[in-house]
Amino acid sequence: MSKIYERLEKCYKCFKDKIDFVPDVALVLGSGLGDYADGIKIEATLDYGDIEDFPKSTVAGHKGRFVFGYVGDVKVVIMQGRVHYYEGYKMEDVVLPIRLMKMMGAKVLFLTNAAGGVNYDYHAGDFMLISDQICMAPSPLIGENAEELGVRFPDMSNIYDRDLREIVRNAAKDLGIKLQEGVYIQLTGPNYESPAEIRMVRTLGADAVGMSTACEAIAANHAGMRVVGISCISNMACGITDKPLTHAEVQETADRAAPLFKKLVTESVIRLGKEAAAE
Ligand code: HPA
Repeated sequence: MSKIYERLEKCYKCFKDKIDFVPDVALVLGSGLGDYADGIKIEATLDYGDIEDFPKSTVAGHKGRFVFGYVGDVKVVIMQGRVHYYEGYKMEDVVLPIRLMKMMGAKVLFLTNAAGGVNYDYHAGDFMLISDQICMAPSPLIGENAEELGVRFPDMSNIYDRDLREIVRNAAKDLGIKLQEGVYIQLTGPNYESPAEIRMVRTLGADAVGMSTACEAIAANHAGMRVVGISCISNMACGITDKPLTHAEVQETADRAAPLFKKLVTESVIRLGKEAAAE
C-alpha cells in the first residue's frame, strides 16, 4: 500500500469511528465564506485537530474543521478552513483533506476562493466560474503515486467538469447573479504579485490569480472526483490600480460579496447534489 494511502486510512478511521455520514458533495470555503457552514443544517463536526496526522491551518480567520450536514436535501461535507502551501506544508499535506473527503464518499468537489482579478473586464466583487487553470505551484502528485487513488499520469483535459459548470452557470443565471468565466492561476504566495508578474500571468492566459485551489483540483481529478470552482474577485490584481494591496482589503471585499456568494453556492450545491446522487 502507498504511504499516502496508509496515512489517509488512519485519518479516515478517526472520522469513521466518530461520525456515520456519507456526503455526496464536498465543499471548500474560501475567504469570506468561512461562516457559510454555520448556517446549514449541521449533523456533525470534526475538528482537524482531532484527526490523527492531519495538517492544521495557521491563517487567522480560517477555522479548522469539517462540517457534515445538509444544504437543501444534499448531503455535504464542508471544509471550514483549508491548508495552504505557503504555510510551509508539503503538497501532500495540502491535498490530504481533499483525498479524505473523496474517501468519505464525496463524488463532487466544489472549490471556492478569493482571487485577484487579472482580466481588465473584471471588477472587485465579481464572481468567476473557473473554466480551467494554470498551476504554478508544484504538482501535488509529485512523489510516490497513490495507486489506490489514481494513475501515475492522470489526464487533466477537463479539470473543471463541463456539465457541472453548466449547472452552476444556470444557477447563477436563474438567481440573476453575474458570473464571469475564466482561467485561475495558482502561484505559491504568500506575497501578492508584482505588477510585472501580473502582466506575465495575463500573457499566459490567466483571468484571476490566487494561492490555492489549482493543486486541490489536480488531486481531486487524480482521485476521480468531478470538480467545479468559483472565485470571488476580491480585488483587482497588483498593477491594475495604483493602490497597494492588503489582506484587510481582500478580506473586506470578500466579506461584502459573501451574502451573494452564499446564495450562489447554496443554489449550485442543491443542483450539483442531484447530479452527484444520480451517479
Ligand atoms: N493575488 C493573489 N492571491 C489573492 C489575491 C491577489 O491579488 N487576492 C486574493 N487572493
